[in-house]
Amino acid sequence: MGYGMKIVALKNGPFVLETGGRYVIQKDGKEEVVEKPRVSLCRCGASKNQPFCDGEHKKIGFEAPAAELEVGPVPVER
Ligand code: FES
Repeated sequence: MGYGMKIVALKNGPFVLETGGRYVIQKDGKEEVVEKPRVSLCRCGASKNQPFCDGEHKKIGFEAPAAELEVGPVPVER
């Protein structure tokens, strides 16, 4: 079974969502279709473009371990 999305926490950096290419973002009540293979989300709290990473984590010396997670739908029982 394939997974729909992979989430990678970069060492000392953001969460990177590997989306597969096309996805919808809903923010402030608006939906936006984005066609990018990945999106980086801030986990240090310092980005001025929340919830996205703007590279500020490098300036503040953010430290956190790397991790990886695959996310997908629950299989339907037959
Ligand atoms: S993780 Fe990059 S700005 Fe917060």
